[in-house]
Parts: sequence; C-alpha cells; structure tokens
Amino acid sequence: MRPRSAGATRRQFLLGGAVAGAGAVAAVGLDAAVSARGTDAAASTPLNGDVVVPFHGAHQAGIDTDAQAHATLVALDLAADVDRDGLRRLLRTLTDDAVRLSRGEGALADTEPELAVAPARLTVTFGFGPGLVARAGATAPAWLRPLPAFAIDRLRPEYGDGDLLLQIAADDPVTVAHATRMLLKDARAFASPRWVQQGFRRAHGTVRPGTTMRNLFGQVDGTANPVPGTRDFDEVVWARDGWLAGGTGMVVRRIAMDLDKWDHLDRPGRDQAVGRTQATGAPLTGTDEFDEPDLDAQDALGFPVIAEFSHLRRSRPDDPSQRIFRRGYNYDQTPPSGLVSDAGLLFVSFQADIDRQFVPIQRRLDELDLLNEWTTPIGSAVFALPPGCAENGFIGEGILT
Ligand code: HEM
Repeated sequence: MRPRSAGATRRQFLLGGAVAGAGAVAAVGLDAAVSARGTDAAASTPLNGDVVVPFHGAHQAGIDTDAQAHATLVALDLAADVDRDGLRRLLRTLTDDAVRLSRGEGALADTEPELAVAPARLTVTFGFGPGLVARAGATAPAWLRPLPAFAIDRLRPEYGDGDLLLQIAADDPVTVAHATRMLLKDARAFASPRWVQQGFRRAHGTVRPGTTMRNLFGQVDGTANPVPGTRDFDEVVWARDGWLAGGTGMVVRRIAMDLDKWDHLDRPGRDQAVGRTQATGAPLTGTDEFDEPDLDAQDALGFPVIAEFSHLRRSRPDDPSQRIFRRGYNYDQTPPSGLVSDAGLLFVSFQADIDRQFVPIQRRLDELDLLNEWTTPIGSAVFALPPGCAENGFIGEGILT
C-alpha cells in the first residue's frame, strides 16, 4: 500500500549512507531485504485509516461515536424551489454518498475516489433546521427554533442557523475534506452552504483511547459527560416521541476563547474559574479526574473550595433531567493584527429536549460563570437530528415518505 513505499524510500536513503563503502551490489541487496521486512511489518499493522463506523442503525453515527480527531460542520440553506419531492431526492442522494464514503468507497461519480479509500472512522450526521422540517410539511419539536437571546451573546449571522446540517468527522483531515466536497457537490442543485466550521482534537494515536479531550485553554473538557452505551446516555440523548424517536437535538455554539487574556491568569486563578485543576482535570476537592466534586467542602476561611462562580458549580444541574452530552471541537484561525490567537470551542451538545435540558444550563451560565470573562458565544444554531436508517432507507424518511 502507498504509505509503505514512502517508508521504503526513506530506508533506501538511510541505507545508502550507511553502506556507501560496501559496493553498489551489496547495497542494493541489503536495501531490498530491509524493504521486504519493512513491508511485512507494515502489512501486519492495522491501519486506523481502514476502520469503518457502520452508517446504518437505529441512531445516526457521529453522536455516540467516540469523537474523531477532525470535524467539519456545514449548514446549508435550501433553494427556494425545493419542495418535498426535491427534499426526498436530496436526502436520498446524500445518504447514498454518506454510506459509500463511510465504507471507504467513492461516492457515485466521484472524481477523486482515491481520496475515499481511507474512511478513518468517517461519520456523516444529518441535522434538520426549522426551515427544512417546515418544507417537509412535518411538525417540528417545540425546541426547534433559535435559542433565546443571552446577555453574553455577541452572535454573528455568518455562524448562525441553517436548514440542513452536515457533521462530517473522521480521524483524517483529507478524508473529511473529500467527503465534505462530495456531499456539497451533490447538494448544490438543492442547497448552498451558509456556514462551514472546522474543528479538531488530538490527532489519532497521540493519546490513549478514551482520554478526555483538552480545549485550547489547556483544560480537560468533557469529564462529567454521560457515557455512550449506558442507560444514562440513552436517557439524556435519544428523543422518544414521533418522527424524532431515536434521534436527538443538537446545539452548535461557536464560542471564542480569549487566549491572549487567559495568558494573564495564574494557575490558581485558572483552576478557580472552573473548579478543577488544569493539570489533571480533578475537582479542587479531589485528586483524580473522575473524583466526585464535594460542593460542600470549605477552606480554612470558610469559603467554598469550589467557588460559587466556578463553571463546574454553575453548569452542574441540581435537576438530573437537565443534563446534556457535550462533543465539541477546538478551532484556531488567523489572529487579527496585534493578537496572538483567534481560537475557541466549537461547542456541540446533544440532548433529547433542548428547552428542558440545554436552555436552563445556558441561562445559569449567562447569569454567572467566571469563565465568561474569557469566553464569548459568537455563533449559535439548533438542529433536530432524525434517527438512523436501515439499508435501502434514507435519513429523514420519517418525515418524507
Ligand atoms: C468556551 C466555553 C466553555 C469552556 C472552555 C468550558 C469548559 C468546561 C470545563 C473545563 C469543564 C470541566 C470538565 C468537564 O466536566 O467537562 C466543563 C464542564 C461542563 N460544562 Fe463547560 N465549557 C464551556 C462552555 C459550556 C457551555 C456553553 C455549556 C452549556 C450551556 C457548558 C456545560 C458544561 C457542563 C454541563 C459541564 C459539566 C458540569 C458537571 O456536571 O460537572 N459548558 N466545561
């Protein structure tokens, strides 16, 4: 396979230097032997690029899938003349593309099928905005509308809303770029991109599987999250009613993180802002990342160890029905003149009912959260993610057949 020849080329180069005095014939023989051994070893090493996440199932992939390293989120606006019939054709085509690409096959009429051969756990997840559900003539869940305005918001229209959301994620950025392009090519007669947002986590293989991600403030981010595959997760995430049963609600918030200002904060200040240590992610009352925070603990002066204004205390719901599943990505782009960074969090959360679960948390954070000193929401969108589909089905068939 291709990567091996690159390895062999480097080995040939190194060997060429090592055996320069031993004669050309010996060098060629040795080189061939080492290349062959290298090929055997390489052939037996499983490639993450070959790993396929099944597309079909009761739920869409890309929600309870262990987060891939790279994601592109695209929101599209439907063309004015797309009716129910057009919607059906669009979603059938995009489903077909997603099925093929996630198996490592080119999409139909793929002009670069060579780029599709390494799916690298590619998932394509579809979300419907209020406009698409209305166009389908279906009843939208009550929460499928822009979030209420929050005082901390400085929303920019270029990062907001949309009729159709595609979350395209894989452990390889070339795979993501190719899948995105194929999907947008096939959508272009029906819809045009409204915004595109890209995000990343640690590259595959850099940290042990299951390691909680770090955001660009350096914090361990995602510790107190429901665990996929558990009953708890199912209750938090999957909707139970109507055409959305087996689907979920998705909130996308682009949150700028002022790293230049964060630089002025010392370690204790950083830890206080969240209520956890940056070093390990442990609560300030514990030593291990997954220790249960003790919200009653007081310091020698009688102040709470985990401060009232901390993000942990403000985001942690008293009411267990208000929980959410966070699955965000970092972003980092060209800084404006005079600054070092323009970075942040592509915050993504999944929950069965956005009004009941997400909004109360965001309201509390809007009222008080020390992290607000360094973070600003600049984009916001809400989507309903329909359930998955069986082979020969398509995403959205529940409102289009
Ligand atoms: C840039 C913005 C944000 C940053 C940097 C941030 C960072 C963090 C960190 C470091 C933690 C502690 C570790 C963990 O449990 O994951 C945390 C927890 C949490 N965050 Fe955020 N967060 C941000 C925005 C938000 C938003 C917008 C929400 C929801 C409206 C939210 C909801 C939560 C929840 C529910 C927890 C878990 C609380 C618990 O039960 O302990 N966060 N966040």
